[in-house]
Amino acid sequence: MREVLKSVQTRETELGRLVAGSTEEVFAWLTDRIKQSAQERATSMGVGLSGGSTPKAWYQWLVEGRHFDSKALRNVIWAASDERQVSLESEDSNLGNALRGFLNPLGFSPDKSVAWSVDYEPESAALAFQSQWMHRFGENQGFHLCLLGMGEDGHTASLFPGSPLLREPVEQLFAAVAVAGRGWRFTITPTGLEASNEIILLATGAAKGEVLARALRTARPVIELPIRLLAGYADRVTILCDRAAADALR
Ligand code: 6PG
Repeated sequence: MREVLKSVQTRETELGRLVAGSTEEVFAWLTDRIKQSAQERATSMGVGLSGGSTPKAWYQWLVEGRHFDSKALRNVIWAASDERQVSLESEDSNLGNALRGFLNPLGFSPDKSVAWSVDYEPESAALAFQSQWMHRFGENQGFHLCLLGMGEDGHTASLFPGSPLLREPVEQLFAAVAVAGRGWRFTITPTGLEASNEIILLATGAAKGEVLARALRTARPVIELPIRLLAGYADRVTILCDRAAADALR
């Protein structure tokens, strides 16, 4: 591991392995992990990028330091682990933000990303994404590496408290769901997380640390605190925390 990672701290938790460090260490850890996974895979690797504002700082860091080489990562196919049904041009588009944030500036070719369609009804668009994904990567393959964010209500991807996708087992790996007050969202489902090889949650700032602390200290059901889903895949989960989040977790 590179020099910058020397003070990263790790510990096992019920939700997965916690890795804590400075903002730069956390970004470097995530970057190295993607590079290493891509190198280890002889064939294409599907990465689900998380949404919201948290990854934007990482995108900026990636571009400023030119930390990704698009040629070395040419076997990576990028998608969003959840998305609003808006065009890629919209500032609300998670994949659009990744394209603007680092994929385009670092020279990744447009055929290296897969978007949810805005041309179909939400449920058909989710099925279309799923069949496109499976056609490329095989039946029942989620993301090889799935990045997730987390909200202060404990949601992750677009799995919000009370979500119908958390109430009953769903067969789909990727689904459309109407979220009260937020419109239609596309999201990886719990089945999709189960079908993903590795899951990385990026949590920065004290408020996220407090949510994680709550998720680790209570046995509240997943339907109330969706981030607790991670306990089901803990052996494949890394929770990446910056110092502010890690301090709130003590
Ligand atoms: C989205 C995602 C959501 C997000 C978290 C964290 O907004 O696209 O649905 O799960 O990753 O809410 O968002 P912030 O990074 O903005 O706090």
